[in-house]
Amino acid sequence: MSKYKIAVLPGDGVGNDVMEAAMLVLDKVGLDAEYIYGDIGWEFWRTEGEPLPERTIELLKNTDACIFGAITSKPKNEAQKELIPELRGKGLIYRSPIVRLRQMLDLYLNLRPCKAFKGNPLNYRDDIDLVIFRENTEGLYSGVEFRPVPDKLKQMLLETSKNMAKYKDVPNDELAISCRIFTRNGCERILRSAFEYAKKNTLKSVTVVEKPNVIRETSGMMVELARQIAPEYAPVELWKTNVDAMAMWLVKNPQNYSVLVSSNMFGDIISDLSAQLVGGLGFASSGNISDTYGLFEPTHGSAPKYAGQYKVNPTAMILAARLMLDWLGEKDKADAILNAVAAVIADEKIRTYDMGGSNSTIEMAQAIADKI
Ligand code: IPM
Ligand code: MG
Repeated sequence: MSKYKIAVLPGDGVGNDVMEAAMLVLDKVGLDAEYIYGDIGWEFWRTEGEPLPERTIELLKNTDACIFGAITSKPKNEAQKELIPELRGKGLIYRSPIVRLRQMLDLYLNLRPCKAFKGNPLNYRDDIDLVIFRENTEGLYSGVEFRPVPDKLKQMLLETSKNMAKYKDVPNDELAISCRIFTRNGCERILRSAFEYAKKNTLKSVTVVEKPNVIRETSGMMVELARQIAPEYAPVELWKTNVDAMAMWLVKNPQNYSVLVSSNMFGDIISDLSAQLVGGLGFASSGNISDTYGLFEPTHGSAPKYAGQYKVNPTAMILAARLMLDWLGEKDKADAILNAVAAVIADEKIRTYDMGGSNSTIEMAQAIADKI
């Protein structure tokens, strides 16, 4: 019996290309694992009306961790049109499988390291090394949304919030409401994850990125809690920055930051910005982590137009595999991958198209495997 059972979900689009590349590196590093492939993505939406089949959820429940490639998601109407004829008009609704998995498996921590590798021509600066802790299960992505707004809800809001008065005469079907739901527990666990990481790695600061001056109740709760728990993690300093200002500081002085912590949507946005500072989505990996399970993925999407061309940079996917090894406790193997990636980039020989070169996905992965 293998030490680990790992679910492998390539997904669709370039998900397949980069997964093949990552498996090449994982094979080289020699993890004692059984890899079990599962179904997810656009093809299963089209043909089964369900991009995340029940059998895949079962697979995840029976494995130690998962590596995940990428999947396509499209707006409601387009998704309808692509269903096979038998499934159309049945009221099926496409909801992003990755967002559902995060909620279903309570993968509350979205860990997104953004490290500049020396020699990467795409670096904004070479001294950036920050990690984003994005809350991954609640906030604006809770899925509690209304359009049209039910009369009952509108009435209740009119009774309980004076700021609602200006919407009194807007017809219900011309109103849309998306709830930004924070829980104390949700805030506390993401904050503690960030502080624990900073303390363990002797980092100077944790910056909480919110907007409490305007979004008083949700952002307010997050920042208040950060203030309360920060002293437990001294000498790590608590820094507080509004999300709009953070966008500016990240362009001005990204090298000053080490750990950023934020709610779901703000974390989503600042993580794309930060990824671009260190070479773009081809270098951005992430871990979706609960207390008992981890699902690791590149931050990039499925880029359907490049599917099957073996053109895209597999580094993000390979770094996601590295994050998985780290989370499993296979520190030496994780470090071996990180060092191999760093060495290949520093060599300045192998370059995928995003880096201005013409090497393929597999050539990049092979070069990394060869350094292990
Ligand atoms: C990400 C992506 C997803 C998100 C999309 C694909 C639903 O942007 O992982 O950052 O919004 O979380
Ligand atoms: Mg995103």
